Amino acid sequence: METAISVHNLTKTYRKGFWLHQKVTSLVNCSLEVPVGVTFGLLGPNGAGKTTLLKILLGIMRPTEGGGTVLGQPLGERSVRQRIGYLPENAYYYDYLTGWELLEFMGTLLGVPERQKRIVELLDLVGLSQANARQKKIKEYSKGMVQRIGIAQALINDPELVFLDEPMSGLDPLGRYQIREIIQGLRKQGKTVFFNSHILSDAEAICDYVGILNQGHLVAMGKIQDLLGEEETYHVVGKGGNPDRIGQFLLHLEWHGDNWQGLLVHSPREFYEVVEAEGGKVISLVMARQDLEEFFIQKIREGIPTATKPPLAA
Ligand SMILES: Nc1ncnc2c1ncn2[C@@H]1O[C@H](COP(=O)(O)OP(=O)(O)OP(=O)(O)O)[C@@H](O)[C@H]1O
Ligand SMILES: [Mg+2]
Repeated sequence: METAISVHNLTKTYRKGFWLHQKVTSLVNCSLEVPVGVTFGLLGPNGAGKTTLLKILLGIMRPTEGGGTVLGQPLGERSVRQRIGYLPENAYYYDYLTGWELLEFMGTLLGVPERQKRIVELLDLVGLSQANARQKKIKEYSKGMVQRIGIAQALINDPELVFLDEPMSGLDPLGRYQIREIIQGLRKQGKTVFFNSHILSDAEAICDYVGILNQGHLVAMGKIQDLLGEEETYHVVGKGGNPDRIGQFLLHLEWHGDNWQGLLVHSPREFYEVVEAEGGKVISLVMARQDLEEFFIQKIREGIPTATKPPLAA
């Protein structure tokens, strides 16, 4: 599988204070691989190092240690910048421009051919009307509209790889849903999307791969199904049937009169047949897989390996 991002042992230490003698380590030995065409979600609590990692991948910032490639080129390689798009966290745009003017400006900077056509396509993709884009200044936009124009500017050069820093933050449920749809649309076009988020349900809905950062450490990474496990477990509720046979299938079985409930770890099809053969009925069956939120909280609570804890201030 072709890789869009392949980095190893990235560490970043900021220096601060008047004499730059204070050190803050924001990333510790982070290695990750992102295949071409996937949607990757980098998750983590505030201050975990998500933006720092993204800026290193973009080549805006150098790692203190470690290295790797983005689109096959070493980190920071200028020619790669034309092939990537970027939506910054809390982006600031020139307020007195209209959305259309912003896209024109970015398109000119990047030498985008057939700009007018591209702008119309992008407005359509992000769901902003041409009237809003042409007539309203960005300072008059709602937060959702600013985020949409931000995504449009990130895509102006038709990038192969798109970095989005917190694209859903501050949006209402409808706004978040629409951004999710845009990201899914990009995936269908074969683009690689790398985004930071702490909205786990959004990540679970649209990501193929996720990484979890905690205090600068990548504490988990992989395909969502692999992390959460594919073992099929179901909460089942039912009525009647043969208690001995039902007992062979269910864990934590409880009976209340003729009604029962328990945890099924077998194939539901066979279980249905067994229950119904004895005149019983399965009333409900709900998948009991751990969700990403539970997994995330568990990983954050587990903390980081003490042997590799960063010297937060030295
Ligand atoms: N320019 C800087 N100088 C010094 N420390 C910094 C700098 N930028 C970030 N940090 C520190 O690095 C750590 C990671 O910050 P970063 O912005 O990467 O986190 P984040 O995961 O993106 O957080 P959030 O979810 O709040 O956006 C924090 O402790 C932050 O204070
Ligand atoms: Mg951030």
